[in-house]
Amino acid sequence: MACAVMKASLWTLIVCMLSLPHITAGSIISAAVNIELLDQDRSEQVRAHYSLVSTLPCPALDDVCNEVNCLDQLSSSPVKGVFPSPGWCLRQWQKTIPQNYTSTLQLGYDGAVSLYSRADLSVRSDTNSINQPPYVSLPPPVRIRAGCPQEIPVNVMDLDGDEIRCHYEKNGLGEFMRLNEETCTLLYEGGGYLGQYSVQIVVEDFPSSVKNQIHNEAKPFSTVSVHLLITVEGGGDCSTVPKFTGVSPAGGAVIHVLPFGEVHLNITVDSSVSEIAVIGPPGLFISPMETGRSSQSSVTLSWVRGPNQFAHLLSICFAANTQSLQSRIRCIWLQQTQTDPLPPGTELKCKERELQMSLVLPMSFLENLHVSDLQLNDPACPVSYNTTHVTTTFSLTGCGTKRMHLGSELLYTNTLRSINPNSTISRVATLILPLACRIPGQRAKAPAFKISIPSDVETFGAVSFWIEFYFPGEGPMAAETRLPRMRSLRSVRAAQELRSTGRMETLDLHVFSNCSLDRAELMVGSCVESDTQDFVNTRPLLNHGCAPGNGTFEILTSTSTVRIYRLDLSSLSVMGDTMYVECLVQLCVTTKQTQRCPDPCTETTDKTIVNSILTHNYTIRSGPVRLIKATETSTTTANPVAQPSINQVAAASSHTLERGAFWVVAVSLAVLLLQVMENFVEQFITD
Ligand SMILES: *[C@@H]1O[C@H](CO)[C@@H](O)[C@H](O)[C@H]1NC(C)=O
Ligand SMILES: *[C@@H]1O[C@H](CO)[C@@H](O)[C@H](O)[C@H]1NC(C)=O
Ligand SMILES: *[C@@H]1O[C@H](CO)[C@@H](O)[C@H](O)[C@H]1NC(C)=O
Ligand SMILES: *[C@@H]1O[C@H](CO)[C@@H](O)[C@H](O)[C@H]1NC(C)=O
Ligand SMILES: *[C@@H]1O[C@H](CO)[C@@H](O)[C@H](O)[C@H]1NC(C)=O
Ligand SMILES: *[C@@H]1O[C@H](CO)[C@@H](O)[C@H](O)[C@H]1NC(C)=O
Ligand SMILES: *[C@@H]1O[C@H](CO)[C@@H](O)[C@H](O)[C@H]1NC(C)=O
Repeated sequence: MACAVMKASLWTLIVCMLSLPHITAGSIISAAVNIELLDQDRSEQVRAHYSLVSTLPCPALDDVCNEVNCLDQLSSSPVKGVFPSPGWCLRQWQKTIPQNYTSTLQLGYDGAVSLYSRADLSVRSDTNSINQPPYVSLPPPVRIRAGCPQEIPVNVMDLDGDEIRCHYEKNGLGEFMRLNEETCTLLYEGGGYLGQYSVQIVVEDFPSSVKNQIHNEAKPFSTVSVHLLITVEGGGDCSTVPKFTGVSPAGGAVIHVLPFGEVHLNITVDSSVSEIAVIGPPGLFISPMETGRSSQSSVTLSWVRGPNQFAHLLSICFAANTQSLQSRIRCIWLQQTQTDPLPPGTELKCKERELQMSLVLPMSFLENLHVSDLQLNDPACPVSYNTTHVTTTFSLTGCGTKRMHLGSELLYTNTLRSINPNSTISRVATLILPLACRIPGQRAKAPAFKISIPSDVETFGAVSFWIEFYFPGEGPMAAETRLPRMRSLRSVRAAQELRSTGRMETLDLHVFSNCSLDRAELMVGSCVESDTQDFVNTRPLLNHGCAPGNGTFEILTSTSTVRIYRLDLSSLSVMGDTMYVECLVQLCVTTKQTQRCPDPCTETTDKTIVNSILTHNYTIRSGPVRLIKATETSTTTANPVAQPSINQVAAASSHTLERGAFWVVAVSLAVLLLQVMENFVEQFITD
């Protein structure tokens, strides 16, 4: 039984058993098809890009497209959402289809959805080129409140600037849902029964010259379609709909993305919501939702343009959902800027050992450009030229080179661009040449939805970790431990080397890594101390990277690959003459230049893959650390005892002999492979 809701403003919700028609798992909620011309013309075929939102469980590609030429566009886990129940999942794929075609999508035994598309492959007389079909975006599942009139924009765009018209192919809501055919906006008037209604819209482009006669006889160039299942829900107050705040991108915005360009968006709503549902291109990273001050909810979206065969125009649509309400839906466009081929003689080399990229570009290619105005992201880095070539060699860790993560790859990118210092309009051409070195991650392995992180070796190079102990103010970091800056504000007793008994009172635990990668940070997880080599009984020195408080203090250093902890041995109640220390360590590198690795003591660790990459945990152990005053003889006797468990680093023996070093042991993480780099260069020129 359904609840009758009258269109009139004074409508009554008859108390009834609310029974939304239950959607069975795996049925289609919404779907859209967009088409693009294939690169080789005259083939009478087009490339179709499909997006389909279905109820959970998420269908496999074979369930929705089981022909040989279906190409899955999944690069990571499929995007999912919660509302309406039982939740949904987005699948995207592409396929080559005839220019005039009806795609029939079906899941299980549910009714099929037919999406019609048609392209006109003849050359237009007004533009002298083949028409580009319009694009339509797919919104998250649409939820409307019975009795609350609302506009639902169907976002469309045409790269030729043609007139776009929408019309109904099917309208399950009848008179309650009108369509403004010129603006492609659905207008819900507030009535209808609760339930789910299917609406199908056809989008067509027309030459702008016939703008006022479209209704009569004009023939569209091309057609694409979108199918939506609209849920009309009951209850709630029309005025409490969540709203996007100013930081969120405006509806209809177009963002141009160069090859290897990054897009970061922050979507914030003014109230606490249950989810921010997002539909976007493959590879879109959506952060977990955060609730900030004044109960605003926000998510950040990140997307990196890698080499892809996606549509030139990609849409991102989002809406905020509460249990009973949905915000207005907004959509924006990502336009993948098209690039021209580079001339022969162009050469980009990625030198992994030197961590450098070098570029040679023939001068002939740079006609109409002021070569002296070419610069890298960091204008201070040199770009040189002679009569035939422009050349530049720069560091992957400097010169404004950005490092980012693309699927399983790690990318180093920079841009060579011409700057026209005087803003007055000139007829001088502009060059924007994105440069990138790609470090492939491990080849994708099953299961298909797993995001593979570059292996430790590829990201961090060959690295060892080791532990050393020194008296305060001594050792290689003496400058930083003499007058230490402590992480904790509590006062620490002045370094007092020896008690009258000859027992030490304070000792500095140094954890080192020889990782040379810029922005790599050493993260020490937990450290324990034991009286015996087998670590049968242990006492904590550090928990989750933070001092537990009673006798360990972190000394802040200026080197991100060294961590120093001052141990107050008496508070730690270390009794014996000898102790052994074991620590769990990791390396972290951020994928964005500006960010820091998560600080375990102050932040909730959000190990989102886009922000930082962490290695595995590695366990390192010290050898015996003598806690009795060291004399020259005891130092030498301690030395042979210092048998590291595996792969002692050659340097360790020289560390032991440094004055004041009591004990040193190194365990090295054996890493063998070297990173493999691929070259990649794409360019973009306009004038
Ligand atoms: C599309 O193809 C069908 C069948 O081949 C044909 O009947 C129809 O007229 C074509 N439509 C257009 C608009 O070309
Ligand atoms: C998004 O922007 C808002 C307002 O500036 C800020 O409070 C919030 O922390 C940002 N969210 C994220 C996830 O960065
Ligand atoms: C200019 O530099 C390029 C690249 O270093 C080199 O191959 C070329 O021979 C140079 N041309 C002249 C005229 O020196
Ligand atoms: C820019 O303007 C300055 C001063 O007006 C002039 O000296 C310089 O040559 C101009 N540069 C270019 C590239 O036009
Ligand atoms: C770190 O030490 C290991 C083991 O000695 C060595 O193989 C590796 O090359 C070193 N890495 C760097 C970056 O120096
Ligand atoms: C620090 O002291 C508290 C209470 O005195 C104790 O519960 C805790 O276990 C101690 N922590 C360590 C690491 O000894
Ligand atoms: C490393 O260890 C910490 C705490 O022991 C744990 O929370 C974390 O998940 C581990 N990380 C990895 C990559 O295994």
